[in-house]
Parts: sequence; structure tokens; C-alpha cells
Amino acid sequence: MIHDSVLINDWHVIARSTDIVEGQPLRARLLGEDLVLWRCGEKVMVWQDLCIHRGSRLSLGKINGGTLECPYHGWTYNTEGQCVRIPAHPDQTPPAKARVLTFRSVERYGWVWVTFGDPQHDIPHFPEWEDQSFQKIFCGPYHFKAAAPRAIENFLDVAHFPFVHEGFLGERTHPEIPDYEVVTDANGITAKDITIWQPNPDGTGIGKPVTYTYHIWRPLTVYFVKKAQQQFAIYFIVTPVDEIGCIGWMCMVMNYAYDIPYDELRAFQDTVAGQDIPIVESQRPEKLPLDLQAELHLRSDKTSIAYRKWLNELGLTFGTS
Ligand code: FES
Ligand SMILES: [Fe+2]
Repeated sequence: MIHDSVLINDWHVIARSTDIVEGQPLRARLLGEDLVLWRCGEKVMVWQDLCIHRGSRLSLGKINGGTLECPYHGWTYNTEGQCVRIPAHPDQTPPAKARVLTFRSVERYGWVWVTFGDPQHDIPHFPEWEDQSFQKIFCGPYHFKAAAPRAIENFLDVAHFPFVHEGFLGERTHPEIPDYEVVTDANGITAKDITIWQPNPDGTGIGKPVTYTYHIWRPLTVYFVKKAQQQFAIYFIVTPVDEIGCIGWMCMVMNYAYDIPYDELRAFQDTVAGQDIPIVESQRPEKLPLDLQAELHLRSDKTSIAYRKWLNELGLTFGTS
């Protein structure tokens, strides 16, 4: 198990709720640990993907009436992770220590969240989730061969829009970033009123400046809102799979554009992510350097400077250098 107490004691998304279907174990990976997920009614189990008998993968096993059976010798575990049956010894009660390593999990905002530790913070609030006037569009999972903080920093970085997302989120004829405000407090970081030029911000085909606000609630959970007459927001989470490997999950909410098909809205984000991924994967060093002397930073990098300082203060080590 890794030693990053910040990420161990935080909530992480490992799947969409709809990914875990009754009767079918699912495999996931978090912080270098292989996991098996399975559902029994309302309950979702998240366990180490390792049978304590001979270490085979439980995710290859079978779900039968509220138990998970190991594929190798049929040891059978109940929803608490306790072994209740050892087929080679049918008359024997399995020893109490015959149990798998289980983790706390919860389903919220359409995702399955898990923690390896004891979080001091609840899962960050999703302001529009209960509001029926907003449509919710789930995008991703987006797989990056990159450190999780690199993927978050990319999401916070607006100066790349005119180049990486030219014609989508920016125009190279309008690359300037006016100064904006960044505040770090007990709730994380807020980067407010970032003005950028977009070629088609409201679907009319007319380019104009728009204003972005980012809230970095947790090291790997970010909320972004673009306010105009209409409101557009994104709740973005990155799963730290390994030190150099992560998955981005996104839920876009908008109180307009109901006439545009879901798949089309999703395809737009797929295109944007497809433009970002090769750039983020190309970044060196692979781990995000928290030493501000290690790179050049300018005023337009204010948000990422604050992010690095904050991660440093929190003591985050996984995926950083
Ligand atoms: S390895 Fe799981 S039952 Fe033997
Ligand atoms: Fe991008």
C-alpha cells in the first residue's frame, strides 16, 4: 500500500454506478491497488482483488446469492468479506481470519467512490446535481498515461485553449489571459473570473470573451462553472490509478441545449479530451514538480502555481516530485 496519507484518506471515483451490474464482478485499480467491485442490491462492495487462500483474482470469480466465489478453489465470501465456505472442507467453519481486505464505498452523483482510509472531508458538493433544470451529461472515462495531478492541472489551464483546442475552446488570434483572482483557503482553491476568448461560446457562431471560475475542492476533484445567461458547469474527478496513470471522469451540466442529442454533447468532450491526452502524456517530468524553481511560471499560470503550493502544503506525494 502507498504512503500518501492525503490520497489514502480521500474519496476517489473508481467506476460509474451503472458499470456495476448485478451478478458481474468488475475490476478497477486505485493507488496501485487492484480492486474488485460487485453489487448486491443497494450495496456495492469494493475489496482488494485478492483471494486470501492463494492470491488469485476474485474479479474472475462468480457471484451467487449475495456471495462472491473465488475462481480457483471456490472459497466463498459474504458481503462483509468473510469467507463462509471452503468447498474442500465442507464440514469445517472457515477461520475468522479468512477474510478479504474490504474498503468503504459510497455511490454519489452517479459514481462509485471509495476510500482506503478515514476521510476528514465529505465528497465535494455538486451544486447543480439536485436541480432538475440542468441536464447531466457523463463523459469519460478518459485514460491518461500520466500522473493524476498532471491531468488536473491540464483541466485548470486555460492558456492552452487557443493552441490545443483551436476552433473549439479558443482562437490563436486571441491568446491573451488578463489577470484574475486566486484564493486558497480551508475549502481549497478558487480561481475566479478568468476571461478568455472563445470562438463559439453560446452556439451562435459569434466569438466573444467568456468568464470561467474554478473550484479545486480536493487535490483530484475540481468544479468548473461558466456563467452567462445560461449556465454551464463541469464536475471533474481524476482517479490516481498508478503514479503514472490516471482516469478522468466528467459530468457536464447545462440548463440549455436540450435540443442537442446527448451523444453529440458527449462527443464534443471526447474530442477535447482526445486533444489534451497526447499533450499531457508528453509532459516531463512525468510527476508534477511541486518545487516552483523547477519550471518557469508566469502570471497566467496563477492557478497552477496555487495548485502546486497547496499540494505541497497538504503533503501530497503520489504523482508529484
Ligand atoms: S485461491 Fe481462492 S480459493 Fe484458492
Ligand atoms: Fe485542454
